Amino acid sequence: MRPINIGLTQEQRQGVIDLLNADLSDFYLLLIKTKKYHWDVVGPQFRSLHQLWEEHYTALTANIDEIAERIRALGGYPVGTAAGFLKLTTLREHPGDLPDAHEMVARLVVDHEQIIRNLRAHIERCDESYNDQGTADFLTGLMGQHEEMAWMLRSFIEGESVENSRVQSETPVATR
Ligand SMILES: [Fe+2]
Repeated sequence: MRPINIGLTQEQRQGVIDLLNADLSDFYLLLIKTKKYHWDVVGPQFRSLHQLWEEHYTALTANIDEIAERIRALGGYPVGTAAGFLKLTTLREHPGDLPDAHEMVARLVVDHEQIIRNLRAHIERCDESYNDQGTADFLTGLMGQHEEMAWMLRSFIEGESVENSRVQSETPVATR
């Protein structure tokens, strides 16, 4: 096969591919979690959250495709198994429970913030360790999208601590 000659060494491209596969895995987990809450949510904010999460998973689906195809463009192969995504993700799953709407939003804020921190670190490594300004720019665009999604979610629980939300409130959702 003809070698890829875009001004990056094999080692530089592999370093970037590894970062992108980690991001791909986080995005897949976030896609699953966002869809699950889109399906499960109940309460007075049902319609708003149901629709917002559809917008978010639509954007995530498009971004997942872009990350995977960028990995191919750099000569690598995207992770494509559930086991592979679980191995690489930095997000935590919450199997078997049915949180209230507030807790769903709070958990997704935590996930988006984790992804933003990861992307910030990966942007720096792409630029400084691997000399790949193209991927750094690509990830910067994705980080901006997650910052906006996190803000939208945070706005639902404005004035309440995201940290405290991990303790389930006794207050029914309907009275909030
Ligand atoms: Fe739907």
